[in-house]
Amino acid sequence: MCGIIGYTGEGEALPVLVEGIRLLSYRGYDSAGVAVERDGALVVEKDKGRIEDLAPSWDRTRLAGRTGIGHTRWATHGRPSRVNAHPQSDAAGDVVVVHNGVLDNDIALREELAAAGVGFVSETDTEVFAHLFARTFRGDPVATARGVLARCHGRFALLFLHRRLPGTLVAVRRGSPLLVGLGRGECLVASDVRALAGRADRVLELEEDEIAVVTPAGATVHAADGRRVTREPKALRYDEASLGRGGFPHWTLKEIHEQPERLADLVAARIDPVHGRVRLDELALSDADLASLDRVDLVGSGTASYAAMFGARAIEALAGLPARMVPGSEYDALPETLGPRRLVVAVSQSGETADTHAAVEAAKAAGARTVGVLNARASRIARSVEGFVDIHAGPEIGVASTKVYTSMLLSLLLLAVRIAEARGRRGALMPLRPGLDALPDAVRRAVAGAPAVKDVAREVHRAQNMLYLGRGPDHATAVEGALKMKEISYIHAEGYAAGEMKHGPIALVSWDVPTVAVMGHGEHRTRMLSNVREVKARDGLVIAVAAEDDADSPKVSDLLVQVPTLHPWIAPIVHVVPLQLLAYEVAKRRGCDIDQPRNLAKSVTVQ
Ligand code: F6R
Repeated sequence: MCGIIGYTGEGEALPVLVEGIRLLSYRGYDSAGVAVERDGALVVEKDKGRIEDLAPSWDRTRLAGRTGIGHTRWATHGRPSRVNAHPQSDAAGDVVVVHNGVLDNDIALREELAAAGVGFVSETDTEVFAHLFARTFRGDPVATARGVLARCHGRFALLFLHRRLPGTLVAVRRGSPLLVGLGRGECLVASDVRALAGRADRVLELEEDEIAVVTPAGATVHAADGRRVTREPKALRYDEASLGRGGFPHWTLKEIHEQPERLADLVAARIDPVHGRVRLDELALSDADLASLDRVDLVGSGTASYAAMFGARAIEALAGLPARMVPGSEYDALPETLGPRRLVVAVSQSGETADTHAAVEAAKAAGARTVGVLNARASRIARSVEGFVDIHAGPEIGVASTKVYTSMLLSLLLLAVRIAEARGRRGALMPLRPGLDALPDAVRRAVAGAPAVKDVAREVHRAQNMLYLGRGPDHATAVEGALKMKEISYIHAEGYAAGEMKHGPIALVSWDVPTVAVMGHGEHRTRMLSNVREVKARDGLVIAVAAEDDADSPKVSDLLVQVPTLHPWIAPIVHVVPLQLLAYEVAKRRGCDIDQPRNLAKSVTVQ
């Protein structure tokens, strides 16, 4: 959520800042801005809109300089506008700041500063930091940053530039990631490693409440008490392939296509071929710990919560342990004592989601054991939990999750098997093995089924409302499919447990409200066939996502997308693929901004 970039070096700052903002735009993109320092003067350019539209009109001569900061925003305090865009500055224009996160005591500090005669121009909490820095500054950057930290509560990453500290960036981290990239004759600061790739060869990650003073020659890091911290920079490793779209028109489509390979790697990493057991080396819970559990709560937000919903069912079914999904945003409000027999599993791509992190903290405070199923090793949630399951999906740039969802489902299924094994169900993996081996190819075939999905998109792209139905393990598929459609095509879509349809949503059924039915397997499919007939009896348009060996679904549906047949606990990983493709194709026909849908951000770091 929001992106920070800073540059100080021998080259011009502006092109580096613009490129950094472009690389970070997937984290928020409602406004963008830069500030550049030259000869002790600060020049700011910023506005509402996207960097590719804004940057061409910025005057390179006016913005010439070798030190600067930049930002791409996802609005929290104040609507997207020029005034609210970052950088924010103090009244005299001595200091500029860019900011990720939220200042919790914003109102109190604003009132205090206003009473002291400070005039605010924006609605942002960020502006408070600029005024505080300016008023505390006596020439020493570390002492000033410490003064700001002492007054401020919340979670934030800050990057300051003061006109009396030429060539110097001052970075502050509290609860929101910030990295210093070291290159040749230049240094960068960024909230995400992606913006450092290609320029910096080493990286220093700031820890909680640390301050970095960054010049072209390097960086010094200081703890909150001002003490100098010695830290060896790490070599910067970033997968170059993930920097480009590889010929695909959108990141979202590239990421849908990456799924077979990601899942193949995950199966190879997680199944021990010699002993035929699930390998989760960083779980940090012994067999005895797992055997002593009395229930599992899975927490997550959005797509991650739907993966958690599937995970809860898998744990109940395979390990015989009561499990449930609770949205991260609701978990800390539960009036419960937990204790060490409760395992709380936090599911998150970014590892930075504030709601999910708060749930983990609440679980720890109540004495529960905690594990993260995460795509980000160095994230806030990864640091909070005891154990870790890396979903290995690689960086996901499209704002709507696709490849991360399928990697989460597979990881959670394997976690369920691991718990089952520890609880004496030694053969839990055996029936899944053939399906796991066949999974990457099945997903490859589902992706290759895009032409059938395009036919469906042609029929439904003018709809204003859609229903998605699924049962059992595919209830999650239905809600996730509906979320994808909402997010990227802006069609209102609702996902339901299919049996619930007749208890209300059936009132919506008509030819203009297409119903996507995820048919599933066995008993679930038998019941889905009845539910589909109920829709048809009311003149509804039905699109069935059905297994290749399902002879009945083609007879009761109007449009059909066939997918390979797999074990019922593995099949949902395949079933969601046509739903991802459908949302993509519909959004394309409707001319939507697929990779950066309106109002969204990749990582939501506010509660
Ligand atoms: C939907 C989507 C969001 C995220 C949610 C949680 O496509 O991307 O719903 O799943 O914001 O994010 P993470 O997984 O980073 O915790």
